[in-house]
Amino acid sequence: MADADPQTAPQPGFTPVSQEELDFLGTDPIPASAYYDPDWYELERKAVFLRSWINIGHVCEVPTPGNFIHRQLEFASASLLIVKGKDGELRAFHNACTHRGTRLVREAAGHRANFRCPYHSWTFGQDGALLSAPDFEGFNTTKEQCALKQVRCEVVAGLIFVNFDPDADALRPQLGDFADEMDTVPVARATEFSEYTYELNANWKIVYDNFQENYHLRFIHPRSGLGGTGPDNPFGYPTRYRFFGDHRGQTIWYNPETQPRGPVQIGGFMAAATALAGKGLMDTPHGREYFGLFPTFFMLGNPLQNFSHVVYPLDAGRTRGVIRMYWVGEAENATELFARQAGLTMMRDLHAEDIDVIEDGQTGLSSGALEHIHFQTQEALCRHLYNTVIDKVRALQAEAQ
Ligand code: FES
Ligand SMILES: [Fe+2]
Repeated sequence: MADADPQTAPQPGFTPVSQEELDFLGTDPIPASAYYDPDWYELERKAVFLRSWINIGHVCEVPTPGNFIHRQLEFASASLLIVKGKDGELRAFHNACTHRGTRLVREAAGHRANFRCPYHSWTFGQDGALLSAPDFEGFNTTKEQCALKQVRCEVVAGLIFVNFDPDADALRPQLGDFADEMDTVPVARATEFSEYTYELNANWKIVYDNFQENYHLRFIHPRSGLGGTGPDNPFGYPTRYRFFGDHRGQTIWYNPETQPRGPVQIGGFMAAATALAGKGLMDTPHGREYFGLFPTFFMLGNPLQNFSHVVYPLDAGRTRGVIRMYWVGEAENATELFARQAGLTMMRDLHAEDIDVIEDGQTGLSSGALEHIHFQTQEALCRHLYNTVIDKVRALQAEAQ
């Protein structure tokens, strides 16, 4: 056996998760076609995206009755309206008038007492009921039959999820203790956020996998790595992996010796850390946890990296992502405000470093040159995602037979 590379061999002080512990995930190569083939994507669309809980927002966006958000979900060809009702209930509807389908709302968010269709003035309540429709006597239907079409909606840790499958299991019981931990992190009690969205020429799994493995950190992020690697742990591997059915987590390792470096924004960000610590917000038991919810959501529990990231497939080789940094309360002073914006800027910088390798990976795979791709032990979360997708597709195929 060749000698271990002294630069990359794990040092005393950090023990990576063993392959033995992860054997249950299997070790086979992974068929490459799952990452580019349009026919396979069509199976995923039906087996995964139309049956799973998809994060589309946060309760801080709909604080009072009449508040709504509007989301376009290409994988379902759906326009959704999420409305907080007078009774305080959050409901999700298809943003489609039940007369002849016209969109009720075009703006991304707003506040309305009711929803009047611009075409022939059918008017719907915050609970989706058809309240009035001009000359309704001429229709051979009832108002009850013309309520807006509802989609299932559930809130976990302040995050709003929708599911197009009326028979899907509720999300919270699927998550168990994982959901209780999510309830304790800053995202769960956020009152505002900053966000940016992006589109990449890559399959949704390639985009998402980039954010659930640390193998690439030292090569792609040496400048902005922010303490993700160190002599004890040169690849910055996590200290543990966890699996909750379809969902998964990892405990992030952090180099305690890290010194802030780089542009002036880092100084501002560290000032925010001090401010947050002063508010007791650094005092969280789950600050090192990464929460990955199948299929396309993840967030961190750390008050300094209080971000969520969701990817939405547009087609087999194109993906939109939304990255948000959530905040609790308004910034109290200019330093904190600056630091919040700097936090998002740093996130964007870090992500910008990933874009080329993600899209180039897609180019290589889409060529059809490779029969398989390979995941190593410490890419366990990527393998778990693939395994879960396969299970869903096989289940759909079995139902069809
Ligand atoms: S399409 Fe909405 S009222 Fe006619
Ligand atoms: Fe990265």
